[in-house]
Amino acid sequence: MNTHSFKLDNTMAKRNILVTGGSGFIGTNFIRHALKIRPDWEILNLDALTYAGNPLNFDDLNEDNRRNYKFAKGNIKDSQKLNEIFSQTNFHGVINFAAESHVDRSIAKPDEFIETNVTGTFRLLEASRKFCKSTRDFRFIHISTDEVFGSLGSEGYFTETTPYNPSSPYSASKASSDHLAKAYFCTYDFPAIITNCSNNYGPYQFPEKLIPLMIMNIIEDKPLPVYGNGKNIRDWLYVIDHCEAIIKVFEEGTPGETYNVGGNAEKQNIDIVHLLCKLLDERLQRTGKETSCNLIEFVTDRPGHDKRYAIDSKKIREKLGWKPRFDFMEGMKLTIDWYLDNMKWVESVRSGTYREWIDTNYKDRGKSL
Ligand code: NAD
Ligand code: DAU
Repeated sequence: MNTHSFKLDNTMAKRNILVTGGSGFIGTNFIRHALKIRPDWEILNLDALTYAGNPLNFDDLNEDNRRNYKFAKGNIKDSQKLNEIFSQTNFHGVINFAAESHVDRSIAKPDEFIETNVTGTFRLLEASRKFCKSTRDFRFIHISTDEVFGSLGSEGYFTETTPYNPSSPYSASKASSDHLAKAYFCTYDFPAIITNCSNNYGPYQFPEKLIPLMIMNIIEDKPLPVYGNGKNIRDWLYVIDHCEAIIKVFEEGTPGETYNVGGNAEKQNIDIVHLLCKLLDERLQRTGKETSCNLIEFVTDRPGHDKRYAIDSKKIREKLGWKPRFDFMEGMKLTIDWYLDNMKWVESVRSGTYREWIDTNYKDRGKSL
């Protein structure tokens, strides 16, 4: 443990943690996992419940976990709501997941990405700063992405000192929010810490992102839209490994620092799609049928599509002792099983504005879903 350690002293009372965006993919996994492994945390989840947030994600919490969980519907842009929340509870920390997160949506309509990711983060920082009395008692963890660094060529890795070079409105908005968090540390000594993580996969991910979209389309025998030549590379991390990295950073990270988090699992998109076809064909015992790979359609590329992401996570591994627990194949099998067992969840999140979005934005890109 380093000198800035913020780990709970066993003699202390409960810790109050404000999680924003906790009803989305990573936030849900984070809250569910933290409630299990940190019984001394009381979590308030503040979420605006956009298309990406699902309040049903917490319906099956057991009694112990339910006692430590509260929900408030609200927007991180709403300063009044934030002040109200901060005036009611003495928080030990804020973990900010709230964001618009889908690159394709940011290309089609960037407005809300600037509103939530930039203005919303600014308002949350401002409300937290007013509330935070001393660096000793508080942490603000800003959850960010490796996309702020732009694209890599065939070699090299993103480190914490790689210059920012975002390509999409999404990554530019996240870069902007990172700069704000950093500026609050430099200017006000506000104890913000940033994590920049690679692509997550696992349960509760909205079926617009590559892995859950392909899983659902394979199950439903629909076309599998691969952008460009399918050779773009992402570095994949099982979501629970990301959640554990965030807990490490919250408890032991140094204010003002940033930590890269990645899985050392670089894959071409087309290889992921082939693997999902193989695993699902086996799992669904589609033996008499042609392979699901026949459903693959190469479609118009994403504009500004970053070629390759790869994270060097040496700093968090060496300084905080974090490392991923799930290997890629294990994580993929767990993810597939979760979607097969939770088709009702998929239906519930798809029944909102999702269909409308697909119809208006994807038709002219050659996607026929
Ligand atoms: P998500 O889209 O699944 O969830 C976002 C959540 O934020 C939803 O519950 C939504 O309702 C809520 N939200 C949106 N706008 C809000 C607002 N103005 N006020 C309050 N709540 C709001 O996103 P995710 O994939 O879980 O990503 C969470 C965070 O992690 C984001 O900041 C994202 O940039 C970052 N991140 C994601 C990945 C990934 O692979 N998914 C990787 C690295 C970093
Ligand atoms: O790297 C971290 C980022 O990972 C996060 O910051 C983002 O919030 C998260 O959405 C994710 O961004 P990507 O753009 O990498 O994820 P997505 O699942 O949208 O796409 C992964 C790759 O697959 C990308 O190269 C585009 C490609 N793709 C995606 C979709 C949805 C396809 O080929 N076909 C598709 O239908």
